[in-house]
Amino acid sequence: MPLETTKNIWHNGRLMPWEQAQIHVMSHVIHYGSSVFEGLRCYARPEGPGIFRLSEHMQRLLDSAKIYRMPIRYNVEELCSAVVDLVEANGVAPCYIRPIAFRGYGEMGVNPLRAPVEVYIANFPWGKYVPGNDGADVCVSSWNRLAPNTMPSLAKAGANYMNSQLIRMEAEINGYSEGIALDVNGYLSEGSGENLFVVRGGILYTTPLANSVLNGITRNSVITIARSLDIPVVEQALPREMLYICDEAFFSGTAVEVTHLRSVDKMLVGDGKMGPVTSAIHDEFFGIVNGLKPDRYSWLTPVKVPAAEPVGVS
Ligand SMILES: Cc1ncc(COP(=O)(O)O)c(C=O)c1O
Repeated sequence: MPLETTKNIWHNGRLMPWEQAQIHVMSHVIHYGSSVFEGLRCYARPEGPGIFRLSEHMQRLLDSAKIYRMPIRYNVEELCSAVVDLVEANGVAPCYIRPIAFRGYGEMGVNPLRAPVEVYIANFPWGKYVPGNDGADVCVSSWNRLAPNTMPSLAKAGANYMNSQLIRMEAEINGYSEGIALDVNGYLSEGSGENLFVVRGGILYTTPLANSVLNGITRNSVITIARSLDIPVVEQALPREMLYICDEAFFSGTAVEVTHLRSVDKMLVGDGKMGPVTSAIHDEFFGIVNGLKPDRYSWLTPVKVPAAEPVGVS
């Protein structure tokens, strides 16, 4: 996806011009992958744009940093204000927001403890994504997700995405739109950048945090919506073949939102169409984020930016 620039980037408490937000090639992060980051969406709504689950994303950023002993000088409220200030200063909505904290310049060697920590936040235009109703054709990856005692999957760390890149490249080269990885014990884990749900017999299953998944904020939103719709939700280890015999399957994530799977390993999921449980959750999710249904969980933080696009139903 080509990057569209905006005017400002937030760095350690102040806005700077986009072009000046640069780091030295000898920064620790470049050599040792020492970054943690977030990805959020700001949605266009009839009443004005809103950032989806801002405080939960900022809390996850701080959690990721804590796991890696990376001190961040800002608390959740300060980070949330920084995001709102940036989005309003840039005047771009809908948009994607990318906060990142990393070990910067001044120390060489693996040990990051004495390297400075830098915090940046960028945002850039990202129009309304229309996944359509055709669904995704995916495969099970030959790459496993990270073993739990190697790279912690609850940290959204830049380095984890080397594993994601292997999964994603393999899928694309083999003609699939995404890969689903198993964990090191052979149970279903997640996609390269999405959580996984399957439906069988009216029950919604998803892989638990112990199967090397990111604690997805969209995943949590899907579970909340499903429970409000009286759909039973079960978090349990799932064997690969559940993907072949389930009635419905879908991904959740900030980028894919709620996207149903048409086929896995060239086997149709159900009849390949979006099934009733997925449709109910999909419609509720898009209704809330697009401002067409009440924001009954207070998931959206308003920002004062004129919405650039009319809002419709996905
Ligand atoms: C590996 C991985 N799993 C799951 C997700 C979904 O998380 P969220 O819903 O918080 O975007 C993402 C996206 O951030 C991801 O990169």
